Amino acid sequence: MTAYLDHASTTPLRPEALEAYASAAALAGNPSSLHSSGRRARAVVEESREALAAAVGARPAEVVWTSGGTEADNTALKGLYWARRDADPRRRRVLVGAAEHHAVLDCAQWLEQHEGADVRLLPVDAHGRADLDALRDELADGGDGVALVSLMWANNEVGTVQPVAAAAELAHAAGVPIHTDAVQAVGHLPVDVAAAGVDALSLSAHKFGGPVGVGALVLRRGTPLVPLQHGGGQELGVRSGTLDAPAASAAEPPPRGTRPHAQHHRRHREQRPGRTA
Ligand SMILES: Cc1ncc(COP(=O)(O)O)c(C=O)c1O
Repeated sequence: MTAYLDHASTTPLRPEALEAYASAAALAGNPSSLHSSGRRARAVVEESREALAAAVGARPAEVVWTSGGTEADNTALKGLYWARRDADPRRRRVLVGAAEHHAVLDCAQWLEQHEGADVRLLPVDAHGRADLDALRDELADGGDGVALVSLMWANNEVGTVQPVAAAAELAHAAGVPIHTDAVQAVGHLPVDVAAAGVDALSLSAHKFGGPVGVGALVLRRGTPLVPLQHGGGQELGVRSGTLDAPAASAAEPPPRGTRPHAQHHRRHREQRPGRTA
């Protein structure tokens, strides 16, 4: 028997997610079409959006579907940077945790190499926890030259949970937006966007028992962001591209506090005859 243990890398697909995917995939219809098939596909997308928003303490209108965590991180970092710099060319500093995932680190580096960003890595202690004094120092000029802060919710290598709410308070006191990469947190830890006070949050379904290739950027209302993709104007113009109803339907996180694999084992046990627990 093989024991699959690398849940930080990706999780097994939950049976509920597979069922939801299969039934939505059997329906024809583009969620943006106005005929009845389109409206049915749209209903699937919107119900899934509501469920996802409720699971992370956000409003449905704040959920922007993406192809996963990498796209959500790129959309947040580049989009926030361009919007802030375009509004005031002095805002070029990008403050990111030193232990971020490469979807954030390489994105910040790209902004430095191609878009004139001045990237500052916030140091972490021996446990990988970001130094909030360093963040305070970077914001000491009132945040005038700062485009954004990005600090992950939970680390993908060592699991360290970052003081995201405290960082959000510091950032906002300086008038600076903050993004958090919560790809390793959603579905495993209680995540509440409103309570944490972040402006943007990335998540990815395959880290909590959903399929690979779907995720979301939760973007608080009124947060200025320049889109990466241009096209059909879906997702309020933030992320153009035909909506993927089957993927959205399979992207609901398991109830808070239950782990995807624990749910799977419970269900498996329940299905075996002669077992009572
Ligand atoms: C913290 C973190 N951010 C982003 C990603 C990228 O997510 P995705 O695989 O959905 O593109 C990962 C995946 O390993 C991750 O662990």
